Amino acid sequence: MLTVNQVEKSYTGGKLFSSKSKQVLHHISFTLEPGEVLGIIGESGSGKSTLGRLLLGIEKPDRGTIQFEGRDIGERAGRKGKISAVFQDYTSSIHPFYSVEKAVAEPLKLQGRKHADIDHKIDRLLHEVGLDSSYRKKYPHELSGGQAQRVCIARAVSTDPQYILLDEAVSSLDASVQFQILELLKKLKETYGMSYIFITHDLQAAAYLCDRMMFIRSGHIEEIISARRLNEVQSEYAKAMLQMALRLTDSRDRKERIIL
Ligand SMILES: Nc1ncnc2c1ncn2[C@@H]1O[C@H](COP(=O)(O)OP(=O)(O)OP(=O)(O)O)[C@@H](O)[C@H]1O
Ligand SMILES: [Mg+2]
Repeated sequence: MLTVNQVEKSYTGGKLFSSKSKQVLHHISFTLEPGEVLGIIGESGSGKSTLGRLLLGIEKPDRGTIQFEGRDIGERAGRKGKISAVFQDYTSSIHPFYSVEKAVAEPLKLQGRKHADIDHKIDRLLHEVGLDSSYRKKYPHELSGGQAQRVCIARAVSTDPQYILLDEAVSSLDASVQFQILELLKKLKETYGMSYIFITHDLQAAAYLCDRMMFIRSGHIEEIISARRLNEVQSEYAKAMLQMALRLTDSRDRKERIIL
């Protein structure tokens, strides 16, 4: 289980020579249960990716604690191989000179797995994300956005993580590919029993995948609600986001969008 307790984060500067500090996250507390999918939803600049970096242990909170199975997330030993991430920018997530098999093998090599073991596992992982073995020798520029994101997902699940942080992982894909990737994530979750933290500004995608949704605005948690009870949101912010998502559904081709 992941426990986030009273986390705060500020950044200094931004502008050159400026020493002004800007608080990006305020009093963030929540938990993530094993096997749960938690959505983090908010507008651009609300602090989602910053929170994501703290949850990956890449950056430290200024105050408060983030613990995974009772150990601080900042301790390398506490998170090694247990937490993976998939980001929006799939093209730069894979090294341009790495073939698909090399990209997927990388985290396994870091775990010290044997070559034969890795080789076998790559085929299985690619198959699980819907790519056949012919993709092993391909390079990122030979892949479509959806295929590249499938490779990133294969790499993320390769170490059998306990949770995967997905930061706008489907946002730059077109609607039908988005849907396929969301389906894939659902299927993998059943196979591996992992938790997801699904960061997005797309309420519809979140509603489709998540068990609970956390609305974040200007670095504050506005509301956390079960996805099944989404229609009962209390905060004005969450209500406004919901209205906006429903309006979008009305104005676009319904077949193209994931219906709430
Ligand atoms: N390293 C940094 N240094 C200074 N300011 C930062 C840094 N990282 C983020 N910020 C600021 O923190 C705020 C939150 O940024 P963040 O990237 O977390 O938002 P976000 O919710 O992920 O937005 P988006 O939906 O556009 O990805 C922004 O005002 C941003 O300018
Ligand atoms: Mg972001």
